[in-house]
Formats: sequence, C-alpha cells, structure tokens
Amino acid sequence: MSRTRSRPRRGPGPASSSPQKAPRELRAERLPGAHGCWDHLVVAPLFVTYEANFGTLLRTCDAVGACCAVPHTATARASLKIGNTLRVKPCVHWCGNRRRWIERERERGARIVGVELADGAIRLGDVEPARQKTVVLLGHEHDGIPDEIWPLLDDVIEIPMVGNGSSLNVAVAGSLVLYKLAGLS
Ligand SMILES: C[S@@+](CC[C@H](N)C(=O)[O-])C[C@H]1O[C@@H](n2cnc3c(N)ncnc32)[C@H](O)[C@@H]1O
Repeated sequence: MSRTRSRPRRGPGPASSSPQKAPRELRAERLPGAHGCWDHLVVAPLFVTYEANFGTLLRTCDAVGACCAVPHTATARASLKIGNTLRVKPCVHWCGNRRRWIERERERGARIVGVELADGAIRLGDVEPARQKTVVLLGHEHDGIPDEIWPLLDDVIEIPMVGNGSSLNVAVAGSLVLYKLAGLS
C-alpha cells in the first residue's frame, strides 16, 4: 500500500470517501517548474523596511505569478537575501529612484494601484482581476504611502477591517490584494 493510501483522509467531504493526496504531493503535481517574468502584476514594496515583509511578499509573488519591484538599497538587498525562503527567487525588478520608477511605469501604460486606507478607495471585495499591467504600491510600516506619491496613483484599494487595530501588516495587505488582482481568490 502506498503512503498516500494509508494516510487519513485530508479533504472536505464525507469521511468514507477515498483517501486524498497530501498538500506537498498536490503542489508537486500542480507546479512542475518555476515561472519567469510575466510583467503583468508587479508588487512594489518601495517604502517597506522590515526584512520579514519582503520575504512574505516574495512567497506571495511566487504563488500568484507576480514580480516584485525593490529599491536598489543595501537594506532591501539584504532583506531579499535573508527573507527569501524559496528555492528559486521570484522575478525581482530593481529600481533606483522610486518616484521616477513609478512615473516611468505609468508612462508605459501600467495602472498604478496604491494599497492604503483612504476615503473613496475601492474595497477589496470589489477588486476585479487585472486586465492590464498593474503595479501594486505598498506603504511604509509606520508612515504609509508618502504624500508626494499620491498624485501618481490611478486607484487605491482598501481592505475593510472590523477589529480595533488601525491597519493590517503590510505584507498581509499586499498579499490579499495580489490574490484578488491575480484572479485567484
Ligand atoms: C501598517 S500600515 C501603515 C499604517 C500607518 N500607520 C498609516 O497610518 O499610514 C502599512 C501599510 O500596509 C498597508 N495596509 C495595512 N492595512 C491596510 C488596509 N486595511 N487596507 C489597505 N492597505 C493596508 C498599506 O499599504 C499601509 O501603508
């Protein structure tokens, strides 16, 4: 008897149905190889500073087929090295001047979406899968998206919250939005 068949049933449904494959087996079956640069969905944690947040976002990029835009700073380079727990690092777009990089993406036709709490923002539940190249801009852990960047945003997406916290962790917020824009949730 194989390992798979002897394992207790893991999926939803009646306990009497046939044994299911373990998550690791399913992942191996579904994702036989790494993907390259799709240049369609780009998360831009340009103002993010904590290592752990870069690592979390890289894993989400891998999961949804997104690229990650990272400023060419010593901190960001070190964070990517330490925070990356994947065998193959997802596609990274390095950028020099952050404002200029956003402007250039916009000039080339990308939609620039800020993820932030804002009056008049699109609620997460109403977000449609991205039909054009989309840059998802995240804010600083304490200060959010800088004031001078707001005029460059085409849209803002807000994730509704019912708790007492004033905001979500930035990598969690970015991941939720990426899943929606990728059409995977
Ligand atoms: C911890 S928050 C920063 C909050 C900061 N104290 C402020 O008032 O702007 C870091 C980033 O996470 C994202 N974020 C956190 N919660 C969010 C929410 N509910 N909706 C949209 N973005 C959110 C935004 O990109 C934000 O800039």
